[in-house]
Amino acid sequence: MNAHPGGIAHTRHMLNIAALPKKSCILDLGAGAGEAVKLMQVLGYIAEGIDCAPRADFIRQGDLLETGFAKESFDAVLSQCAFFVSGNVPQALKEANRLLKKNGLLLLSDVFFEDPFLLLKGAGFDLLYQEDLTGQWREYYLEALWREEAVSCCIPKGKCSYQFLIGRKC
Ligand SMILES: C[S@@+](CC[C@H](N)C(=O)[O-])C[C@H]1O[C@@H](n2cnc3c(N)ncnc32)[C@H](O)[C@@H]1O
Repeated sequence: MNAHPGGIAHTRHMLNIAALPKKSCILDLGAGAGEAVKLMQVLGYIAEGIDCAPRADFIRQGDLLETGFAKESFDAVLSQCAFFVSGNVPQALKEANRLLKKNGLLLLSDVFFEDPFLLLKGAGFDLLYQEDLTGQWREYYLEALWREEAVSCCIPKGKCSYQFLIGRKC
């Protein structure tokens, strides 16, 4: 089963919408098995990934909340289904912002329990694009529960949504 709703087709969609120039330097935070990194490399980007439990040898082992990369190292940061799982979305956004060059883009698809606009604004991003994928997320999550593959994380009570967002570092 895909590790995020929509699988690699959705990663491609995110990149299409962002329309980053070829050779942009992109970091995948919570890169898992590295499918998005491989796709980005095939598409002509300079891409790498970091994960606390990497499932490919070309993904660097590390914490997305404190990556150790120098500030302003990347043109874009991509993350799919990892900020929420990290347990600290505000810190993940703060680290993404630190890693980006001025006007750099954050391509994020994830679960949200708060207003994504306010969250991004609070972390120093202008929201450029928003797509609500909550319906797709519900189907994905039910399927994962059914297969006993749901990510075990503490789900708080409250209204949850799944969004694809593009934020620009202000
Ligand atoms: C649901 S998987 C998504 C993986 C990948 N982004 C994808 O969509 O295929 C969430 C990933 O986030 C990683 N992760 C969770 N917390 C992390 C942290 N603090 N630092 C780095 N990676 C983390 C997990 O190890 C896992 O690979």
